[in-house]
Amino acid sequence: MLMGPSLEELMRPRKVCLCRGVSRADLRRAMEEGATTLAQLQRKTLAGTGCGSCLLEVIRILHEYLEEQKKNSLFEGLS
Ligand code: FES
Repeated sequence: MLMGPSLEELMRPRKVCLCRGVSRADLRRAMEEGATTLAQLQRKTLAGTGCGSCLLEVIRILHEYLEEQKKNSLFEGLS
């Protein structure tokens, strides 16, 4: 299912990781392609591999994605 960015996403700064130029959309894409641990996400996008100041935000976005996936799996097959 393709969905555009939410209003909240549009209001956030474009780059999550300034050192590596990684956006929230880049992180989202990497997670959808299977990078579901911090190490995998860093390997795939390089986010958080410079100064490290974005790490908490990267982790927060990863957590948010995993929670969303968990919720979706709970409702799979119910509609
Ligand atoms: S801002 Fe992400 S590593 Fe520096």
